[in-house]
Amino acid sequence: MKIPPVKGTRDFYPSDMAVRNWIIDGWKKVSLRNGFEEYDGPIFEYLKMFQIKSGDEIVEQLFSLRDRGGRDLAIRPEITPTLARMVNQQINSLPRPIKWFSVPRLCRAERPQKGRLREFFQWNIDIIGVDDVLADAEVIFCALDYLREVGLTANDIIVRISSREMLAALLVDIGIEQSQLDDIYSVLDKRSKLPEEAFSEVLAETLTDENKRAKVLELMSLESIEQVSAFAKISKAAKKSVEELKYLFELLDVMGIGSYCQFDIDIVRGLAYYTGIVFEIYDRANELRALGGGGRYDDLLKLFGGPAIPATGFGIGDCVLGILLEEKGLLHKQLPKRTLDYFVAFTDKQYLQKTIEITAKIRLAGFSANFSYKPAKLGKQLKQASDQNAHKCVIIGDESKQNKLVVKDMAAGDQELFELDRFFVQIRH
Ligand code: HAM
Repeated sequence: MKIPPVKGTRDFYPSDMAVRNWIIDGWKKVSLRNGFEEYDGPIFEYLKMFQIKSGDEIVEQLFSLRDRGGRDLAIRPEITPTLARMVNQQINSLPRPIKWFSVPRLCRAERPQKGRLREFFQWNIDIIGVDDVLADAEVIFCALDYLREVGLTANDIIVRISSREMLAALLVDIGIEQSQLDDIYSVLDKRSKLPEEAFSEVLAETLTDENKRAKVLELMSLESIEQVSAFAKISKAAKKSVEELKYLFELLDVMGIGSYCQFDIDIVRGLAYYTGIVFEIYDRANELRALGGGGRYDDLLKLFGGPAIPATGFGIGDCVLGILLEEKGLLHKQLPKRTLDYFVAFTDKQYLQKTIEITAKIRLAGFSANFSYKPAKLGKQLKQASDQNAHKCVIIGDESKQNKLVVKDMAAGDQELFELDRFFVQIRH
C-alpha cells in the first residue's frame, strides 16, 4: 500500500534541505547581527490561546486535537501568542528591551496554493517593551537587512506600511462604531486581494449604511500620508498617528531603506491583535502573496494576563521567499556546496581496514571524511571524492605498509607522501 504525503506538506530531500538550511541560517545570522536573541516554544499549545486574539481566519485554519486527558490543544499556526505567554511568565526578570527571534515550524489548514502550504517555517522578530516608533523602524530594518543580504533590491520588493491606530481614528471620524472596527478590519484586509465587485459585496454585508460605505471607500482611496492629513477634518487622534507614520518614514530614510518603503492605506493585516503601525512585504511585480508582515500589538501581553507592555514584530515565511529568490535567479548560485575535508581512497581491497582506521582518526581529529564502502578502481574513487567536493584525497596503498600515505590536493592536483604520524600532527595545525 502506497501512502502519499499529506496535502500541503513538503518532503525535504537533501537538495531541499540545503535550501531550507541556507534560508534559516541567513535568518539567524541577520537576527544576531541586529541584536536579537533566539527563543522557541512548544509545537502545540492550549487551543484557547489562539482563540483569544488571533482572529477568525487563523481559528478556522487551526489543526486542533484533544489529548488523552481531554485537553483541547492546537498545533501552533503562529508563535506570537506563545511569545506573549512566555514573556508574561518571566516579565519581572527579563532585561528590557526584549529583542527576541525565533524560526518556528507552523501549521495552518489553508487551501494549499502557490506560496501557501499547511506546514511552513516562519522567521519571527519581536521587540517588547519599547513604546517608540523606533522599534517599528528597527524590525522593518531587520527584515530588509536579510532580504538585501540575499540580493533582493528595491526593484524586487516593497514594504507597504500603514497604521491601524490611524485607520481606527479615521473610521471613527466618519461615524463607524468602535465595536464594528474589528469586523471592518477583516473586510478591509481583503480589499487588495479581492476583485472590486466581490469586495463591495463583502463590505455591504458588514456595513449596511450606504453613506458610510461611500466614505470608507473614499478613505481607502487615499494614496499618500499628505492626502490622509488633508482628508476632511481629521481628529486629534488621527493626526497623532499620522505624525507617528511620518516619523517612521523619516527613520526609515535615516536607516537608508526609504526606497523600499511606501505608505499604503490598504495594509490592515489579517490578525486581530495589531494596534498601531502595520506593514507587509510584497514582490514589486505584485504577483505573489505577501512575503511577510507584522506590526505593533501593544495590548496582547495584557490580554494574556500580563502587564500592559508595548510590542512590535514581524513574521516572514520560507515559501514565498523561496519562490521569489528562485524567480530572481538568486537561490541556487548562493547555496553553499556540500564539501568534505578528506576522501580516503584505497588502491586494493586489502587496504580497506586501514582506510576505515584512518577515516575514523581523521573524523576524531574534527575533520569530515568519507570513503567508499566497496572496493573500486582508484579513478572511480577519485571521481567520488570530486563529486563530494573533497578538498583532499588520502590514498592508502602499498606505502601504508611503511606507515606512509599519499595526500592529493584536489584543486591543485599535486600529491605528497606523508609519514602517518606526521600527517596527523600536520592536519591539526
Ligand atoms: P502572518 O501575516 O499571518 O503573520 O504571517 C506572516 C508570513 O508567514 C506570511 O506573510 C507568509 O510569508 C507566511 N505564512 C503565513 N501563512 C502561511 C502558509 N499557510 N504557508 C506559507 N507561508 C505562510 C503572523 O504570523 C504574525 N504572528 C507575525 C508577527 C510576529 N507579528 C508580530 N510578530
